[in-house]
Amino acid sequence: MQFHMPTKIVFGCGVLSQLNAIIKDMSASTLLIVTDKGIISSGIAEPVFSQLENSFHVDTFDSVEPNPKSTTINAGGEVVRSLHPDLVIGMGGGSSLDAAKAVALLGTNPGSIEDYEGRQKYKNPPLPMIAIPTTCGTGSEVTWVSVITDVRRRFKMSIKGPDMYPGIALVDPDVLCSLPQPLIASTGMDALTHAVEAYTVIPRTVITDALALEAITLISGSLLAVYRNQSQREGRESMMMGSTLAGMAFGNSDVGAVHCIAETIGGLYDVPHGVANSMFLPVVMGYNLSVSEERYASIARALGVTDPNDTRAARALVQKIQSLSQELCIPPFSSLHIPEDDFPEIARRSVQNNSNDSNPRKVDIQGCLEILTAASQ
Ligand SMILES: [Fe+2]
Repeated sequence: MQFHMPTKIVFGCGVLSQLNAIIKDMSASTLLIVTDKGIISSGIAEPVFSQLENSFHVDTFDSVEPNPKSTTINAGGEVVRSLHPDLVIGMGGGSSLDAAKAVALLGTNPGSIEDYEGRQKYKNPPLPMIAIPTTCGTGSEVTWVSVITDVRRRFKMSIKGPDMYPGIALVDPDVLCSLPQPLIASTGMDALTHAVEAYTVIPRTVITDALALEAITLISGSLLAVYRNQSQREGRESMMMGSTLAGMAFGNSDVGAVHCIAETIGGLYDVPHGVANSMFLPVVMGYNLSVSEERYASIARALGVTDPNDTRAARALVQKIQSLSQELCIPPFSSLHIPEDDFPEIARRSVQNNSNDSNPRKVDIQGCLEILTAASQ
């Protein structure tokens, strides 16, 4: 068994104010911030820029979009190669953090990002990186993977390697104060999906189990409360800690069929990652029930379900997650109006995802079609 997580985590309300001192400790003087225009216009980035501008030379690449595209990353690659920064700072949701990892990689390696699909295809370690998550779901601040949409294939490719962990994750629950409600809902459900899948996939370990179960407890206990009232400090702390723990868990075990289908849907139809996961989490849990009943029952009991019968407790959990998704106003899969004629192609692509073999119950094309049909009811 192995567990790897070299990222230093600095966690707590207000820790963003430590960024200046952290960068000075790293002896960096030129910075490239990789983010998206929404983060800039929302004002979330303002405290970051204001504390850095008098101490460092700061450039910004803010072209990152949801489901970041290979063309955008390659444009970022040109920027980073012309600027030669000492440090890359990724700030935003999973898209910005994954984009920052990929841009940091292109800062020290030639060619385009498509050349690095897969595990450790790079020759040189990426530029040093700090990750600042501004949503409660990505987990990317503590993982070694960057997921980028290859626009030519409309396919989400994974670029990963042991040098791609951010050096530092600066996790400040106060960023949730200004996060729009729908993003709290969808990114929070993404975090819950990370934890549930990490706890049930085949490569799970006793360490990832502990992280995932604690993450599920924290997220389930706080997501709805933070969605309804962001001013609740304890809830924000629980959500952000749950999200980071879930990142460590799935980063060392894996994700399963929910992510395989969600990534396919994201690549083909540009559906936001958290929304796509939310649509499929309860359905895939239903599909996995026959092999994951005991595990789901353990989760249910951690969440306060007292029924001693595993079958009933597991079913109660699936129902609970379905209800949570509805209370968070996550739209159903049917709202995407994807024609059934597309399902075979979605299934074909989903089962080719590298994480498909990790799902606790085998998902072949027929199984995936079963899940897609159930989700569209
Ligand atoms: Fe995810």
